Amino acid sequence: MKKQDEGGRRKGPGGVTRRGFITSVGVGVAAAAAGSRLEGQEKRVEIAEPGEMAKVALTVNGRRHRLLVEPRWTLAFVLRERLGLTGTKVGCERGECGACTVLVDGVPRYSCMTLALEAQDQEITTLEGLMRGEELGPVQQAFVEEDGYQCGYCTPGQIVAAEGLLRANPNPSLDEIRLGMSGNLCRCGTYHTIARSVRRAADLKQGLKGAGS
Ligand code: FES
Ligand code: FES
Repeated sequence: MKKQDEGGRRKGPGGVTRRGFITSVGVGVAAAAAGSRLEGQEKRVEIAEPGEMAKVALTVNGRRHRLLVEPRWTLAFVLRERLGLTGTKVGCERGECGACTVLVDGVPRYSCMTLALEAQDQEITTLEGLMRGEELGPVQQAFVEEDGYQCGYCTPGQIVAAEGLLRANPNPSLDEIRLGMSGNLCRCGTYHTIARSVRRAADLKQGLKGAGS
C-alpha cells in the first residue's frame, strides 16, 4: 500500500510526495527521474578554457589529417589557415552567402557554420578535391566554358555546390538548378550563366555533347 503524507497525498517509494520532489529539485530533474537514461549517472560538463586545443582527425579530399584545433574554430578556418586549402572562400561568415561551401559526406555545407570538430569522421571535399589531377574537373571546366562568373569570388562555392547538386540529381532542369543553387549568392549577379554552367557540367559529367568522359 502507498504511503500517505499528513495531507492525505500519496508518497512514492522513497516517501517523497510528487509536489515536494518537484519543489525541492526542480522540474528538469523531475523529467529525468521520469524516464531519462541519465538517471543515476553522474552528470559532467566539460568546459574548454580559452586557447585550449583538442585533437581532431579530418579527411579532406581523400587525405587524412590529424590536427590540434580550438573547439571554436570553424571548418572554413581550419581548411584555409591550417591546411592551406584557400579554394574555400570566406564571405559573410554567417551562413548567408555560400562562398565557403564544401561537401561533407557529399552534401553541400557552409564551412563557416561548421565547427572543425563536427566534421570529424566525415568525408570533406573542397574545390581542390574536384580537380582531375592537374586538369579541371567537369564542373570547373563547365564554369570556364559558360563564363559562369565575373569577379570570381563566389565561384569556388558555386562550383562545390553544383557538384553536390549533380551528385544528388545528375540531370537537373534549369528550374531544379536555380532551386538547388539558391544557397549561393553572387554579388555580380551572374546567375544566368551560373545556371547554364551547371547544366553544362551535367552534360560533361555524363559524357554528352562531345565532352568526352
Ligand atoms: S562565408 Fe559561409 S555562408 Fe558566407
Ligand atoms: S562572380 Fe562576383 S560574386 Fe559571383
